[in-house]
Amino acid sequence: MKLAIDGGKPVRDDFLFYHRSSVGQEELDEIADTFRSGWLTTGPKTALFEKRFGDFLGAPYVVGLNSCTAGLHLGLVTLGVGEGDEVITTPITFPSTANVIEHQRAKTVFVDVDPDTLLMDAALFEQAISPRTKAVIPVHLAGLPCDMRAIMAVAEEHGVQVVEDCAHAIESKIAGRHCGTFGAVGAFSFYATKNITSGEGGAVCVATAELRDECLALRLHGLTKDAWKRYDKGGFAHYECVAPGYKYNMMDVQAAMLLHQLDRLEGFASRRREIVSTYDAAFCDKPELRLLGTRDGVEHAHHIYPVLLQLERLSCDRDQFLNAMQAENIGVAVHFRALHLHPYYVARYGFERGAFPDAERAGESLVSLPLYPALTNDDVETVIAAVEKIIANYRRQ
Ligand SMILES: Cc1ncc(COP(=O)(O)O)c(C=O)c1O
Repeated sequence: MKLAIDGGKPVRDDFLFYHRSSVGQEELDEIADTFRSGWLTTGPKTALFEKRFGDFLGAPYVVGLNSCTAGLHLGLVTLGVGEGDEVITTPITFPSTANVIEHQRAKTVFVDVDPDTLLMDAALFEQAISPRTKAVIPVHLAGLPCDMRAIMAVAEEHGVQVVEDCAHAIESKIAGRHCGTFGAVGAFSFYATKNITSGEGGAVCVATAELRDECLALRLHGLTKDAWKRYDKGGFAHYECVAPGYKYNMMDVQAAMLLHQLDRLEGFASRRREIVSTYDAAFCDKPELRLLGTRDGVEHAHHIYPVLLQLERLSCDRDQFLNAMQAENIGVAVHFRALHLHPYYVARYGFERGAFPDAERAGESLVSLPLYPALTNDDVETVIAAVEKIIANYRRQ
C-alpha cells in the first residue's frame, strides 16, 4: 500500500491530534464560579486543591504552582543546591529537568539510562556521586516509576537529596505508595498534555512542614503573607519579603479546573489502560518495534506511549517515520531526544556523541503515539494501521 507521504491515501481523512485534553462542563462551571467570586489568583480554590491533591497522594504537604518546572526549581532552592554543587539526572527527559540545575549555577551530571526502561539506573547513579553531589533528580518517564527503593538507599547512604520528577507520574505508585513521596520533593505537572490539566500548572509535594512553608513563601516573591490573606477582612497585615522569591503561584482559575480533573482521574486512567493494552497487543510481536520494559509491583501512569523503532530492521530513520505518520494524518511526538546533545549542554559541558550510548540510541529511535482518554476505538485502530503500513513499507528484507 502506497504511503500517504508518497502520494497514497492516508489511513484516515481527518488529522488525529497527538493530544486533546478532556475538559467538561464541571470545569467550566467551576471557572465561572471563580470569575463570579471576583478572586482569580491564588486563594481558597488553590488551598482546596492542595488539600485534595495531598489526600490523593497520601502526603500532607502540597503546594500549588504554575508548573512542574517551578516545583523542580523550588525543590533545588529549598534543599540548598547552589554554585559548586552537582546534581545527577538522566538525559532522556524534558530540558527543564536539567535547566533548573543550571538556574542554580550547579553542575548537571548526567548518567546513562537503563536501556530497557530508559529510567535512572541506581548503580550508575551511585558511580556518579562525588563529594560535591548535593541532589539527584530521577525521572519517572512515561509514568513508569523508577526503582525508588534502590535510589533512596544510595541517596541516603551518601547524603544526597532526592527531587522526583513526577511530570508523567500523577498516578504512579510503588507497592501502593505514590511517586513524589519518596524523596524530599516531588514535582508534578498539569501542563496541557498531562494526565490532568489546567493548561499550565504544577504542584510540589514535600516531606516536611518547613519545606512546605518555604515553598509557600518562595512561590510568591518570598513574601510572608500571600495576597489572598492580605486582602481579606481580618486585620490589615503588611507583607515582608524574607527571600528573593519567584512568581510561581497557582491561580484559583487553574485550581478550579484541577478540582474536577482530579475527580475524573480514575476514569481517565482506566481508558488509558485500555488503549495501552490494545497498542501492546498490536505491537508486541513486531520485530521492527520495541516496547519499553515495565517493572513488577508498580502502578504505571501511562502518560505517554513510546515505542522504540528497531532502526536496523527499517530502511527509514526516526524522523522519516514521524513524517510518514503525520502524512497518514496521525499526530506523533518524541519523548525525548537525549538532552546532553542539545546545543546548550554541548556548549556548556562539551558532550560528544558516545557519552551516554543507551540514551543516545533511544533518543534517535523513540516515537510517542497518541494516548489520551478522548481517543475512540476507531482512532486507536487508525494509529495501529498507520504504524503497520509504514513498517511494512520500510521493512528491510
Ligand atoms: C519529564 C518532564 N519533566 C518536567 C516537565 C516540565 O513540566 P511543566 O511544563 O509543567 O513545567 C515536563 C513537561 O513536559 C516533563 O515531560
